[in-house]
Amino acid sequence: MKQLPITTYGMDVLRKKTVPVKDIDNSIISLVRNMFYTMDKASGIGLAAPQVNLSLSVAVIDISGIDEYKNQKPLVLINPTVIETHGKVTMEEGCLSIPDIRADVERPDEVHIRYHDFDMNEVDIELSGFIARVAQHEIDHLNGRLFVDLISDESKKELKKELLLIKKGIVEADYPLLINTEKV
Ligand code: NI
Repeated sequence: MKQLPITTYGMDVLRKKTVPVKDIDNSIISLVRNMFYTMDKASGIGLAAPQVNLSLSVAVIDISGIDEYKNQKPLVLINPTVIETHGKVTMEEGCLSIPDIRADVERPDEVHIRYHDFDMNEVDIELSGFIARVAQHEIDHLNGRLFVDLISDESKKELKKELLLIKKGIVEADYPLLINTEKV
C-alpha cells in the first residue's frame, strides 16, 4: 500500500465537482486501499479522492479508532448523494487538507445517503450523530465544498490569515502534503 500526499487548501482539485465512478476495476480497488492507508497514517477519520489529487467520486471513512465508535464499520462511499436530512447540530470540524484549523460547523444531525458498493449496487443508509457528520463532510469534498465554506462570518474573519498562508503553500503537517504552487 502507498501513502499518498494530501492536497491542501487553495488547490483547484479540492474545488471541482468529482466525476462519478463508472465501473469498479483494479485501479479503484487499489485507490480505496491506498486511501484507507493514507488516512490511517495521517490519523484521519475520513478522506475523499480529491484529497489525493483525483477528481473522482470516492470517499472512505473509518471512525473506529475513536473509543466511543470502535464498533462502527469503515465505509467506502462510491458516487454518494445525500437524499434527505433532518435536524441541526453544531460541532467542531477539521480537515487533513486544512492542517491545524478547526471551527464549528452546523450540519444536519441525520442523513439518508445513497451510494454504490464494490458491485456497483445501490446502497441506502441512514446515519446519525458523528458518523453522519463525517459522511457529510466527505460528500461535500466530492462536490468541491470544504468545511470552511460553512463556518460563521466571524470564524472566517479569524481564520483568514491562516487560510491564506496555506493557499500560499506555507503549511506543514506530520503527513506528506501536496503544496499549492500556483500564484495566489
Ligand atoms: Ni476534509
